Amino acid sequence: MTQPQKSNGPRKGLAARYFTDSSIFERVKREIYFKTWQLACHSSQLANAGDYFSFSILDQDVFVIRGQDQALRAMYNVCQHRGHRLVSGSGNKRSIVCPYHAWTYALNGCLQRAPNSNKVDGFDLSSIHLTPIRVEAYLGFVFINLDNECPPMEEVYPGVKEAILKLCPDVENRVFAYEHSAEEGCNWLTAIENYNECYHCKKVHPQFAKGVIDPKSYQVLPFGSGKVLRHTSKATQSDQAWYDVSGTDYGSFFLWPSTALQFYPGGLLNTYHWRPLAVDDTRVYRGWYGVDGTVDSTLQTVIDLDRETTFAEDLELVKNVQRGLRSMGYQPGPLIIDPDAGIDNELSVAMLHQWLREAVDPQ
Ligand code: FES
Ligand SMILES: [Fe+2]
Repeated sequence: MTQPQKSNGPRKGLAARYFTDSSIFERVKREIYFKTWQLACHSSQLANAGDYFSFSILDQDVFVIRGQDQALRAMYNVCQHRGHRLVSGSGNKRSIVCPYHAWTYALNGCLQRAPNSNKVDGFDLSSIHLTPIRVEAYLGFVFINLDNECPPMEEVYPGVKEAILKLCPDVENRVFAYEHSAEEGCNWLTAIENYNECYHCKKVHPQFAKGVIDPKSYQVLPFGSGKVLRHTSKATQSDQAWYDVSGTDYGSFFLWPSTALQFYPGGLLNTYHWRPLAVDDTRVYRGWYGVDGTVDSTLQTVIDLDRETTFAEDLELVKNVQRGLRSMGYQPGPLIIDPDAGIDNELSVAMLHQWLREAVDPQ
């Protein structure tokens, strides 16, 4: 297990500039978000040939699409003529037609037609294609990576696949059911710090702490040799459980820098992922998955309770903290690092700080 670097005295929170400074944010963009695996969508959202899903990683517009050959592909969402964006939102296409001058690409990204191009000497349709991006199907999810040199997910997050399959053997058969999102008004790191510690749970999330998890057994620890944080807990022992929590325990795997694959007790799969919008703004996505794509009454109950309590409560916290990080009166205090782990522990926050600094501090 990786341990945070030792220093004299208690380890402190990170200097506020890491959350507020645009030049550091520029490095986060280039050194982290453009070089790591990012959740695109669930493969059930791309079930048929021609199904596509477009999104942005900061200023890079991209899309994933299932080809006629059933292969998943990811490409930059930009026309190779004069740069117009090609597709928006999600849907199904037989071919990709640019809205500007109608250049038409096959689902595999090859240019098929460009009006009047036969009049241009030497115009070679076959030499023009959309720019591919690395894509991986991972436990039923679709991830992309803008860095062509990045190792595959199993190397970047060793042991995670096996651990998730142990917790939820049929994870790959799940089907996308529902997603909502919100702008958080905070730096991405403020948001993922908040997700990855439960030191605030008993105070701020009394309903989650009674309805889903068991605070006595909850802990968040580094997992394996990758940049992964694993959250574990028994199912709630309270009589205020949100639903029938029998079966498997609670578990979540946070895959640096921006995705949490989370299982509520009984194997109820849900996700968080975060896409930064600016140094002080981030959009958080909350995904829910079922067995057949419908939202049954249990899932609806959990989605509603989560959104009204845990999700809303965290939104208030992170907005508030972002304002505090800009205060001239803020000095980062010591983190609560408990050698016995447990719920009241910020070792995970120290790990996030270490991983961030490894990526963005001048070497
Ligand atoms: S920019 Fe796409 S066809 Fe002209
Ligand atoms: Fe929280």
